[in-house]
Amino acid sequence: MKLFIDSANLAEIREALSWGLVDGVTTNPTLIAKERAEPTALIAEICRIVDGPISVETCAMKGDEMVADARELSKVHQNITVKIPMTTEGLKATRILSRAGIKTNLTLVFTPVQAMLAAKAGATFVSPFIGRLDDIGATGMDVVRDTVQIYRNYGFRTEIIVASIRHPIHVLEAARAGAHIGTVPFKVLELLTKHPLTTSGIERFLEDWQRVPKKQP
Ligand code: E4P
Repeated sequence: MKLFIDSANLAEIREALSWGLVDGVTTNPTLIAKERAEPTALIAEICRIVDGPISVETCAMKGDEMVADARELSKVHQNITVKIPMTTEGLKATRILSRAGIKTNLTLVFTPVQAMLAAKAGATFVSPFIGRLDDIGATGMDVVRDTVQIYRNYGFRTEIIVASIRHPIHVLEAARAGAHIGTVPFKVLELLTKHPLTTSGIERFLEDWQRVPKKQP
């Protein structure tokens, strides 16, 4: 499974890159707003340091405006993937962009049928938002499992990005379900590497190493 980082923060992206855990990046308007930087320059810098798809969202709501916005965004770098909200206008834009060879990521997807429509429109990626469904008492991962099944049934080539990941179990379940990608916030990426027995095991080995007689230099 590929891992993307769900962040627009350059320090977080650089650190996760140094761990070898960044196959791509997803951003959204909220994440970009947090950085208080000029957005085009910020996106260009992310594209410069990461070799993989970089999702950037359009805030246009009309299909033709989304297409125009996507064309502008895709000029920033060849790895830009334009995030498009799951609406009828979004589907319209996705169909046009897919024919023009511009990569798209259908976002704010909450049902397997929405995910099927994204694939039929020719989306490169689809992003079911798992955590936001869990937040309202639904089982977000069911959407991923059903989408994997539907895509297999019909041979859709759209890749599933499991989004709105809140904790390591979401990553485990996404991998079990056979999702192509998980987009993971920095804090959760860090948690993926940790286990209390790893920490206590390292401490014990270091303590024991202190007791080993060493050759004098
Ligand atoms: C994904 O592309 C989105 O940016 C993100 O996963 C949304 O996560 P949130 O529900 O934690 O805001």
